[in-house]
Amino acid sequence: SAMEQKDAIRQELGTLHGIPLFKSFIEGWPQVKAFQARPDDLLISTYPKSGTTWLSEIMDMIYHDGDEEKCRRDAIYNRVPFLEMKVSEGPSGVEQLENTPSPRLVKTHLPVQLLPTSFWEKDCKIIYMARNPKDVVISYYYFHQMARIHPDPGTKAEFLENFMAGKVAYGSWYDHVRGWWEKKQERMLYLFYEDMKKDPWQEVKKILDFLGKELAEGTVEKILHHTSFQEMKKNPAANYETLLPTMMDHSISPFLRKGICGDWKNHFTVAQNERFDQHYQEHMAGSDLHFQMEM
Ligand code: PPS
Repeated sequence: SAMEQKDAIRQELGTLHGIPLFKSFIEGWPQVKAFQARPDDLLISTYPKSGTTWLSEIMDMIYHDGDEEKCRRDAIYNRVPFLEMKVSEGPSGVEQLENTPSPRLVKTHLPVQLLPTSFWEKDCKIIYMARNPKDVVISYYYFHQMARIHPDPGTKAEFLENFMAGKVAYGSWYDHVRGWWEKKQERMLYLFYEDMKKDPWQEVKKILDFLGKELAEGTVEKILHHTSFQEMKKNPAANYETLLPTMMDHSISPFLRKGICGDWKNHFTVAQNERFDQHYQEHMAGSDLHFQMEM
């Protein structure tokens, strides 16, 4: 039936060095591990659903001096290839990157300890973006429903438990944000989705300082307009709607779903929120990394 066909590509997760991950990605791991970064690669690193696509569009606009038409040249998943991506159809992320001219923008969700060593050896610039875990888990839940590579998420309550236990693709959110935070050094910029929502102008300025790049008068305004939620949602080069519905079914939940801070309040019960807060305190104890759960 159509339903079975749709679900045919759902994958059970395997484990890569202790991290739950899609089996097809694990099959491609040797190529990812051996990946040869170039010194002028810029890595965009995130836990899933933390603003990867938003930051990617911003970076491509910066790299093209705010030229919107150039940034419509291809879909975001081709303009910013996904390093560890491998599915049976089409080229892998590594193959895509090998055919991408420098300077390349590279997307990854890998936890810091699994990043291919050549990114460190080549001293590549890295921008990490983190988002508060309550909004991440809700976004990830809807993404599991629409992006059919993921295992069936079950109920919201079940998914919440799995997320807290790190039993989802890419593992524990806590380990991910903390791991990258601890690696923070000169060549790395650590950003927050909530800051980008609150004051995108200031965050884009931070990125420009980090890149040592200046833009002509009015260009930042153009970038902010082009990368707003409403503009990206209707932009086929940014909204993932060019993928086959067997991969992502936007009628279930659009990729650009809500794009706000605090949507978790519409989904968590009071009891779930209390439990989550307690779990959060335990898992973030001793860290100077802090999140804004709402605006
Ligand atoms: S992925 O699949 O992990 O790469 O997804 P990712 O792009 O990291 O996260 C998707 C969420 O980011 C929201 N988004 C935005 N928010 C604000 N402004 C802009 N321009 C924007 N673009 C994408 C997107 O809507 C997803 O969040 P939710 O909460 O589900 O809406």
